Amino acid sequence: MAMPGSYIAFEGVEGCGKSTHVKRLAAHLDALITREPGGTTIGTTLREIMANTDNTHLSPRAEALLMAADRAQHLHELVVPTLESGRHVVSDRSVYSSLAYQGYGRQLGIAQLRQFNDFAIDARWPDLVVYLRVDLEAVRQRLEKRDTDRFEREDDEFFRRVMQGFEDLAAAEPNRWLVIDATPPKDELELIIRRAVTERLGL
Ligand code: TMP
Repeated sequence: MAMPGSYIAFEGVEGCGKSTHVKRLAAHLDALITREPGGTTIGTTLREIMANTDNTHLSPRAEALLMAADRAQHLHELVVPTLESGRHVVSDRSVYSSLAYQGYGRQLGIAQLRQFNDFAIDARWPDLVVYLRVDLEAVRQRLEKRDTDRFEREDDEFFRRVMQGFEDLAAAEPNRWLVIDATPPKDELELIIRRAVTERLGL
């Protein structure tokens, strides 16, 4: 049997540059590139429900469960089989986004979220989380540039709580998290991330 691949997740708030660096790191590692929510066909349908601005009445608990359902399908259909085939997976967001956004942002707390998300992913947490740290100004600049979906219509307080969530989660598991200042120019940041990830995982 092949050596299992590593499961690498990128985390951060809107505007941190995740999608660019997910692509660049995945290309370097010849990894599968994927995302949550929406990494599978079923997940794409769930993402549409959650992003739809008509659904302003979606309850925080329903949102948390839809995210977990997306994730359960994602791990089952794509992430775990890919890792088992020996290939690395680089995912734009993971279970930790639920702890930060639903737990801290929506103020549901993280204890129950941890439990039912652990069920959703059958205890397969990311091996490494690359947290791209930016300030609130970056979030605002990003959201000014485009039509916002339901996720992006939150106020500064919401994003502050989410950012605090990521900080707390990273501090609680320093061996699993890499905290990276995302302010350097793209090409420089790409190399910083590549070096840090390959060193941490011994790749
Ligand atoms: P994206 O902009 O990175 O594609 O993510 C979509 C939105 O979904 C973003 O606002 C973060 C949010 N989200 C959660 O609230 N909980 C989750 O578990 C995940 C994966 C994403």
